[in-house]
Amino acid sequence: MAQRGTTIERHIFERQRATSSATGELSGLLQQIATASKIINSKVNQAGLADALGVTGEVNVQGEEVQKLDEFANSILIRCVEAGGHLCCMASEEVEELITIPDRFTTGKYVLMFDPLDGSTNIDVNISIGTIFSVHKRMTTGRNGTVADCLQRGTEQVAAGYVIYGSSTMFVYSTGEGVHGFTLDPSVGEYFLSHPNIQTPKHGKTYSVNDANCSKWVDPLQAYVNRLRSPQADGSLRSARYVGTLVADFHRTLLKGGIFMYPGEKKKPEGKLRLLYEASPMAFLAERAGGAASDGKRRILEIVPDKLHQRTPLFIGSAEDVADAVRSLG
Ligand code: AHG
Ligand code: MN
Ligand code: MN
Repeated sequence: MAQRGTTIERHIFERQRATSSATGELSGLLQQIATASKIINSKVNQAGLADALGVTGEVNVQGEEVQKLDEFANSILIRCVEAGGHLCCMASEEVEELITIPDRFTTGKYVLMFDPLDGSTNIDVNISIGTIFSVHKRMTTGRNGTVADCLQRGTEQVAAGYVIYGSSTMFVYSTGEGVHGFTLDPSVGEYFLSHPNIQTPKHGKTYSVNDANCSKWVDPLQAYVNRLRSPQADGSLRSARYVGTLVADFHRTLLKGGIFMYPGEKKKPEGKLRLLYEASPMAFLAERAGGAASDGKRRILEIVPDKLHQRTPLFIGSAEDVADAVRSLG
């Protein structure tokens, strides 16, 4: 049993030692991601001083303005993992095409997909932002991985996690056995275990949705959210929270319970959030913390992707609250 004061390196190694088939490759990859997050964290913390705020003037594959920190985080993540020999390819929210491993490096058996900086619109107003990652085992053979290695069901993930750059910086991850949270001690530059084996309450009083979109929702969804706004059977009121950064809204929901949703709309039924590097890794974590994640009809983890940047509606959080949402939309 990992004790408090456990560094993330030790925790990752203990998980590796407990897994007889482990070769240390996944451990190496996770540690490289943790290192990248420390570098990103340092830049985030001084963004206002280092001319790292604002936009680059480009527009990404999502059709969104690229923030300077989006680009910085993307390049740091790629540089920290591409040489490690653990990956056959990568996919990033910020890069339209599959990211291959340069010929000068060896390749490995894993695929990494990531949102290097989540919540970009909140960067310039000093609200929590994050990084999200998902790891699969490759299915193809040969030196380089292909898009097919990325388009796997979420149930096949071997690891997933996120970093939240908030009032403190936390690294939350799972390799399938529980969800564990680590808090960065900036004075030593180490992540220490602070939230072992996170469990999401079966029900929570908080609901989280961008209310401004309600006129765009289908009627059953409008009726469902109206019910959430109304007093519960015992007369108590729920609370509404919406940060506008998936990582922050999910982190609160993971710890405290309730539901976060980014629904589809009448004219945009697929919603906004991306399946491979937002919804799927968060669904992996939600389920391993005893929660649930649905697109409104089916488990997020059961969706078979067909495009790198495909979007999906997302209802995620407490098992009972997600089930209630799915029943209401059915
Ligand atoms: P990203 O910054 O990586 O593009 O992600 C932003 C996403 C997600 O973080 C958040 O939940 C959602 O956009 C907020 O969207 P709205 O501003 O439309 O509510
Ligand atoms: Mn995002
Ligand atoms: Mn992003």
